[in-house]
Amino acid sequence: MATKLQTMSGEEMIALSRRHTLYEWSVQSAVDPIPVARAKGIYFWTPEGKRFIDFNSQLMCVNIGHGDERVVGAIQQQAATLPYANPFMATEVRARLAAKLAEITPGDMDTFFFTNGGAEANENAIRIARMFTGRQKIGARYRSYHGGTAGVLTLTGDPRRWGAEPGIPGVFRIPEFYHGIQKGYDKVEDVLARTEETIELEGAKTIAAIIVEPVVGTNGILIPPDGYMQGLRAICDKHGILLIADEVMAGFGRTGEWFSVDHWKVQPDLMSMAKGLTSAYVQLGAVGMRHQIAEHFQKNMFYGGLTYNSHPLACAAALATISVYEEDKLIENARRLGDLMRSLMQDLQARHPSVGATRNIGLFGIFELIRNRETREPLAPFNGTAPEMQALGKFFREEGLYTLVRWNTFFTNPPLCITEAELREAFSIIDRGLEITDKAVS
Ligand SMILES: Cc1ncc(COP(=O)(O)O)c(C=O)c1O
Repeated sequence: MATKLQTMSGEEMIALSRRHTLYEWSVQSAVDPIPVARAKGIYFWTPEGKRFIDFNSQLMCVNIGHGDERVVGAIQQQAATLPYANPFMATEVRARLAAKLAEITPGDMDTFFFTNGGAEANENAIRIARMFTGRQKIGARYRSYHGGTAGVLTLTGDPRRWGAEPGIPGVFRIPEFYHGIQKGYDKVEDVLARTEETIELEGAKTIAAIIVEPVVGTNGILIPPDGYMQGLRAICDKHGILLIADEVMAGFGRTGEWFSVDHWKVQPDLMSMAKGLTSAYVQLGAVGMRHQIAEHFQKNMFYGGLTYNSHPLACAAALATISVYEEDKLIENARRLGDLMRSLMQDLQARHPSVGATRNIGLFGIFELIRNRETREPLAPFNGTAPEMQALGKFFREEGLYTLVRWNTFFTNPPLCITEAELREAFSIIDRGLEITDKAVS
């Protein structure tokens, strides 16, 4: 007999989940999960009925919002017809999804390899780059996250890499354009010149690819100054190096374009995606490649495979999700409400001394908090926390605003279906919360 769901209290869910599962990137005794029973639109609820505004789209992934019946229906229909076929088969959903992706991804990108998520998409991207170029090395940034498996955790620059070191060989770092709230930005010409110098020193002919998040996600919503992405593209072209755009978090409308590279009209050679591809209704990732890279594998072996590659349930979820972006004009909504979000942020920045900086592109946003207006000392150190940041997180939770509070920052990444009234409601909670952090400012 099937186990009846929805009989546990929130406390029971927490106790058993903590007793028998590991929570990621955490010291287990410190985790404090929110029990979730159901979700709809921009909201989710605990079993006891407490409502939260999901101001981080869970893990920046439920882009279309929760509980969309068009996607749920597509998954149900696929489950009833053909829940699984192995990756050597052809299926209608696989065929349709790949053709649709060829339509919406940049330029002549027209071939896709499907995975279970973003990390595997990046793993396959670097392997494809190595097979195609016959070179080995990969350049990546410190302010980046590319996934939790061995290879891409080495590419990852943020502290999540440390536990997996020494990692895979052949990875080097390219320079940053942003150095934190105190030091700020480098000039585009300078960072590009230092990037080219790094490539020269590493040996251009040994480098297969450079991977970047065109708009960096968890490491600070870092929007490249105009000219950076174009400059990186030109450097890669000059040296025969492939450019991999990791669009796992920034893709699928989050920034107000289908993909964040579209803002700068830059064509990546390889592009990884996941999260918003299905809005996380079913897990799916993909790596897209330009036509000439796909051509290479017409005559050469593609070394790669996964039991769940092109999983029909996930492909059905992705197709339905992409239709929702189109039908509901969610990308336009992200752009329009992104403009409103910018003005709401600027208003709070003007009124709250603890707000050192705000940034957003579409509905991809962040607050950086400081404790001193002169020195601009961050409210919490790199990779650390502070009582005031913890108090802010507690306030958001009590007030029913869910978002990611990390180091001296917190994020504003709601589902793209959010309305103006809902956005204002969330910002009124933030407004009150910032009174806590303002008290820390000297
Ligand atoms: C930019 C980026 N790349 C890759 C990943 C890894 O994706 P996944 O967790 O689906 O493996 C993430 C996850 O947060 C991400 O933000």
